[in-house]
Amino acid sequence: ASLVQHSHLLSATAFQGSTRLAPLDALRPHRPLLPLPRLPNRSRRAGQFRARMVAAVSQQYLMQGLKTPLWCYNGITPGPLIEAFEGDRIEIDFFNQLEQPSTIHWHGLAIPADQDGAPQDFVPAKGQRRYHFTLPPGSAGTHWYHPHPHMQTAEQVYRGLAGAFIVRDRADPLAHIPEQHLFISDLKLGDEGAILPNDREDWMNGREGQFVLINGAHLPRITLSGTQRWRIWNACNARYLRLSLDGLPFTLVGTDGGLLGAPVHGLTEILLTPAQRVEIVVTPAHDRQRTWLVAEPYDRGAMGRLAGPSPRRVLADIDLLRIEAEHAIPDTLRPMAPLGEPTAQHVAAFSDFVDLQAPPPENPYERPSDMVFMVNGQHYDMERIDVQGQRGAVEQWTLVNASSMGMDHPFHIHGGHFQVLERTFNGVSTPEPFLAWRDMVNLRAGESATIRMRIDEPGLRMFHCHILEHEDLGMMGNLQVV
Ligand code: C2O
Ligand code: CU
Ligand code: CU
Repeated sequence: ASLVQHSHLLSATAFQGSTRLAPLDALRPHRPLLPLPRLPNRSRRAGQFRARMVAAVSQQYLMQGLKTPLWCYNGITPGPLIEAFEGDRIEIDFFNQLEQPSTIHWHGLAIPADQDGAPQDFVPAKGQRRYHFTLPPGSAGTHWYHPHPHMQTAEQVYRGLAGAFIVRDRADPLAHIPEQHLFISDLKLGDEGAILPNDREDWMNGREGQFVLINGAHLPRITLSGTQRWRIWNACNARYLRLSLDGLPFTLVGTDGGLLGAPVHGLTEILLTPAQRVEIVVTPAHDRQRTWLVAEPYDRGAMGRLAGPSPRRVLADIDLLRIEAEHAIPDTLRPMAPLGEPTAQHVAAFSDFVDLQAPPPENPYERPSDMVFMVNGQHYDMERIDVQGQRGAVEQWTLVNASSMGMDHPFHIHGGHFQVLERTFNGVSTPEPFLAWRDMVNLRAGESATIRMRIDEPGLRMFHCHILEHEDLGMMGNLQVV
């Protein structure tokens, strides 16, 4: 029934206007990286966080003299940073001032299903609701929030709706290390200042904007003045970020689901799929004054203009100033044990192809019905349960990327975090090198992965490809936890 109610919104209106991309010098580079503005807590009660979030169109001047209509939470993109502690009670009054249904999904938080912003629980245009939940023990980590309406998630996110959510642990073993936050998104901007709609290649590959932004800024300047802990989000619809510091080594301390059991030292690069997060610790080098945050080439199997490895690209300048303290990282960060033997097995197999029988739409900005993205051979159906799970039980999933187009697909599941056991590619199985809590795992074409997960709250959960265009085209399933 809910599907019918807003099906009239599913076909995008014809796009009129210039489709030329704004040149890369249209946004001013090299400004100092500003911290993410925080969402103020309106409650004075200890252990309670109360705020309002309004999703609305907001005109901004990104390019000299040109207005860009963005879709923003509380007038900014990225949306305000929510910071709270484990055990806190969160109450967010959400006002949807958009012309279409929306939700707020709390990506990475193991909260009750009816508060998780699922597409079934949409807030209609001009509607409102309250999200309320308690941050469960063990939820400390680098999370985020974004809309999750049926078939319109990609558009709402690429127009600007997404923000960071940090849950803190009062006994954080790294609390003494100063933090910086790098919320990475991208923006596809036309030469007249408009956010361009998705064309056929955007739908096919997932959209990549020509601008890569950190905390909303193009090519900012970051100051590393001593040992720092960086939380990094990949909030792009589809862009993969194989990040390096141009050779400067760093230590991985956390993933999607918070801290690792032990730090992993001496890394020089890390791959962040869309929606993936990491926490790293960086210390300025003795022998250099500057470095860069770089997206190294990565080939995710995209087609057309994005085919082949992405070009190496500088995302930020980093000034290395050794004026603040260097900090050592403890050898253990928290207890971490492998999940036990599973009581059930599930499969999620991604497949994709172009349906040559289906006519491509006349309007190139319309949702293409000839591009097929499925899980277990079916398109997403809001009313259909695809997998039954049991609350509190360890369950094993075999994730398969059976792409016929040769694309990577990043897997995501709601309701908690999982451990990856092993990955199999070209007939070779590789056990995971270290234990980590994740809610994202990349699957190359032909690759499969085995994960284990326990969901403690009952209810309906989604699992899907986090290339948001693929999700909107149907690469998503429903898990009913009973
Ligand atoms: Cu971040 Cu179901 O998504
Ligand atoms: Cu999610
Ligand atoms: Cu995908």
